[in-house]
Amino acid sequence: MNHKESVQRHEKMYKQMRDGGGAKRREAQHAKGKLAARERLDLLLDEGSFIEQQPYAVSRSTDFGMESKRFLGDGVVTGTGKIDGRQVCLFAQDFTVLGGSLGEMHAERIADAQRLALKTGVPFIQINDSGGARIQEGIHSLEGYGKIFHNNTRASGVIPQISVILGPCAGGAVYSPAITDFVFMVDGVSNMYITGPEVIKAVTGEQIDHEGLGGAAVHTGTSGNAHFKFSSEQECLEFLPKFLSYLPMNNMEDPPWVETDDPVDRSTEELSDLLPADGKRPYDMRDVAEMVCDEGSFIEIQSDYAQNQIIGLARLGGRTVGVFGSQPFFNAGTLDIDSSDKVARFIRFCDSFNIPLISLVDVPGYLPGVGQEHGGVIRHGAKILYAIAEATVPKISLIVRKAYGGAYIAMSSKALGYDRVLALPTAEIAVMGAEGAANIIFRQEINEAEDPEKKRAEKIEEYQKGVMNPFIAAGYGLIDEVVGFANVRRELVRSVEMLIRKHDTLPWKKHGNIPL
Ligand code: HXC
Repeated sequence: MNHKESVQRHEKMYKQMRDGGGAKRREAQHAKGKLAARERLDLLLDEGSFIEQQPYAVSRSTDFGMESKRFLGDGVVTGTGKIDGRQVCLFAQDFTVLGGSLGEMHAERIADAQRLALKTGVPFIQINDSGGARIQEGIHSLEGYGKIFHNNTRASGVIPQISVILGPCAGGAVYSPAITDFVFMVDGVSNMYITGPEVIKAVTGEQIDHEGLGGAAVHTGTSGNAHFKFSSEQECLEFLPKFLSYLPMNNMEDPPWVETDDPVDRSTEELSDLLPADGKRPYDMRDVAEMVCDEGSFIEIQSDYAQNQIIGLARLGGRTVGVFGSQPFFNAGTLDIDSSDKVARFIRFCDSFNIPLISLVDVPGYLPGVGQEHGGVIRHGAKILYAIAEATVPKISLIVRKAYGGAYIAMSSKALGYDRVLALPTAEIAVMGAEGAANIIFRQEINEAEDPEKKRAEKIEEYQKGVMNPFIAAGYGLIDEVVGFANVRRELVRSVEMLIRKHDTLPWKKHGNIPL
């Protein structure tokens, strides 16, 4: 073969490789409101930054007619690129090739990109759009998933991993996203389920469509498997760079510092208007987070799931922080099974990636109820205690109003490991609410009184006045500072700054055994 022929062959192969499943299948993809794999990468990455790995890999399967279905690249595009100038490794499955199904070489390409991300210490982004294990390749597909799950797990806590589901993600394929840190989904486009509607109908008789079974609303609202829901692919891929800007490249680095125009000593006096004088009336803790953090920096995560606790990333004086807090609007901001899982996993993410933690506390306790007890609230609730005690990043607590019982310990106790505990003048710290406490400790006195109801009211007030203020705990050194409304932002920024060089290590262990 002469040079000209070699060049022609190269051109032909290149064109073929770029073409994936062909123009007709790309059009079908567009007709479903979906982009093709390379179009997605173009939208996400800085122009000209993509470097592809192994683009000519092909399936070597000959089973079930596979020798006539060989596509260069094997249905996935993998490699590295830059987002806002910062490197990432990534893959995008190509649904136009055998439905993006995962065969041996497809899996090998993904695994290679994962290894590259880990070797180079950069975030890993996986764009899923696949019918799952390639049925024709049988056991090789299953082994391929095994390899990917293994790599996801090894990379967990070392590099940030984000799954973007832009199509079906069926069968065992769902477990790779489930191991990653964050899952993004698009309404009407993304589906995740272990067994599809047909199998469910055959096994249990239940009837449901793909969206109702595993659409974005289900996983961001009901199951908690996903973290963000978008209305279009474009919106999703445009949000990803903003989200990444809060994260470090890997666990050895700090998150990027981002200059802010918001004065660090800006007054937060409006907090006094936000917090209702009546301690039983709710308010939106997200307003508190937005008020105290750098303007416009608070990004809520899992906003539709376990809404009695909020979690999110924000910046304080330009530094990324992880905020979690009680949401008085939902179930009075209690901790329960789902919110404990949500908060604990978020704490562990932040701790893995050197992100200081801020808890915003207005919590009456763990949610009472037979369903909660039988559902394992003891085990689930323990996760927050474990995650906080284990976290070595700076941990700052701001008690806004109630901090009662076990939930006080979880969200603001110095003994558990909070480095700095701040309280607003409105803070109430107690084993339980005044009513419950008075009924127990003054039971005899109340029952024996001439007018038990009057006595009860007196005793509740006595307990409230005597115990439920921040200065009792402050007197024991359990609160570091009682902060006026106006100074909350300034105090939080200063607290993060003072703790940023914190160094703490755990006793040597292979790993702990968090109650799962
Ligand atoms: C091989 C597949 C495939 C698969 C889809 N295709 N899924 N080929 N293996 N798993 C092919 C189709 O045959 C078709 O090829 C093309 O991709 C497009 O698929 P359509 O069905 O035409 O597309 P659509 O109507 O959009 O439906 C998409 C879908 C459906 C919902 C994903 O294809 C589907 O239900 N696929 C099977 C999903 C599934 O059960 N996966 C689980 C596999 S077992 P042609 O050439 O005809 O156009 C598994 C276990 C892994 O994943 C365990 C790991 C631990």
